[in-house]
Amino acid sequence: MKILVIGSGGREHALVWKLRQSPRVTKIYCAPGNGGIADEAECVAVDVKSLDSMIALGNQIQPDLTIVGPELPLMLGVVDEFTRRGWRTFGPTQAAAQLESSKSFAKEFLQRHHIPTAHYAICDTSQQVHDALPHFHTPIVVKADGLAAGKGVVIAKAKDEASAVAHEMLSGKMLGEAGSRVVLEEFLEGDELSFLVVSDGERVAPLVAAQDHKRVGDGDTGPNTGGMGAYTTPAIVDDQMRDWLLAHIVRPVVAGMKDEGAEFKGVLYCGLMMTARGPMVLEFNCRFGDPETQPILMRLESDLVEAMEASIDGRTSDGDFKWSNDAAVCVAMASGGYPGAYESGKKITGLEDVAKLDSVKVFHAGTSKREGSFYTSGGRVLGVTARAAELETAVQRAYEACAKIAFEGAHYRKDIAARALKKK
Ligand code: AMP
Ligand code: GLY
Repeated sequence: MKILVIGSGGREHALVWKLRQSPRVTKIYCAPGNGGIADEAECVAVDVKSLDSMIALGNQIQPDLTIVGPELPLMLGVVDEFTRRGWRTFGPTQAAAQLESSKSFAKEFLQRHHIPTAHYAICDTSQQVHDALPHFHTPIVVKADGLAAGKGVVIAKAKDEASAVAHEMLSGKMLGEAGSRVVLEEFLEGDELSFLVVSDGERVAPLVAAQDHKRVGDGDTGPNTGGMGAYTTPAIVDDQMRDWLLAHIVRPVVAGMKDEGAEFKGVLYCGLMMTARGPMVLEFNCRFGDPETQPILMRLESDLVEAMEASIDGRTSDGDFKWSNDAAVCVAMASGGYPGAYESGKKITGLEDVAKLDSVKVFHAGTSKREGSFYTSGGRVLGVTARAAELETAVQRAYEACAKIAFEGAHYRKDIAARALKKK
């Protein structure tokens, strides 16, 4: 079986790594991939912002199964276009991907289906923001409606700050078209949880839950990023909570999308805040999370290809995934300056030493390879991922590996999973 993975980050490296373990897979292409992925798959050029470019690649490769990593191609309708051409593709249609591509769509959908989420107001003009603000307490969360690669959310401490941020977004200066509509949201407190399931449009198969660390700095300080690290353990969500989440959030979403004529197939990623009032939806993603997928797939013991085919064929069942009882942790090593402007092309050292470590896998997110050496080529550079029977050991292993890797300007959080360890 010939597989095409679209994307170029740590998530795609983890997908390629896991897919290679399937006895059914004979060849994997990754488009465009990165320096590290090139060691495990054939990387082929593509412009993920262009449907035509992806269709041309499909024509060339004739894949038996296509897996789409990032949100942008999904929003452009790559699943619709590939499926129309008879290429089996895992993921949601453009219509279903609106759960991620439009925050206002997601909020109104949640409200229509009585699924718990923060109070909100949708605003197209600064006047509407002005009129809505008196109905909120501070802090206030201001979100761009469209895709903004993790940079479209600002937590404003005061109302005038919220108003100024919303105005910047609406003017198009801050995020372009993605900010032409904004969502104001009540600030929720609690632990965040990433709860992912695979759906066939009707039934779901849950993945193990994970926790991301979105802020750039230790102790959840500084600006939001795409995610600086994640962990997963069997204890992160107990069976009772998992069943509650399936009954009150996941299944109503899947049923609601089907009722509304936009059946959701693929990965439904529920970004949740576990508040004192119970779990509430912060956002949906319609794809695997990054970095969460890196530690999650390290715990997966069953065949990922089978589960993806079940989704495409409409025969998903809740036992499609088998998991190890280990814990797994991923620490993202980032370029100096990230999530702001950063430099690229820095030589990475220490990867050979880390390759010798037990139960550690370094997934490449933003690297390129020249003459046998790896160089940085993105904001998040590496996802240093480790597993062990105990979370504490997995954390230790991941940080031992990070300490061996170096590149100019490298930074990473030192407290991934620290709150979970403290609670024990
Ligand atoms: P989103 O893209 O909507 O997931 O937002 C990105 C991050 O902003 C989330 O992972 C949270 O850390 C934070 N965030 C979003 N919405 C809220 C909210 N209503 N209350 C508190 N934090 C939030
Ligand atoms: N880790 C957050 C995301 O994948 O959007």
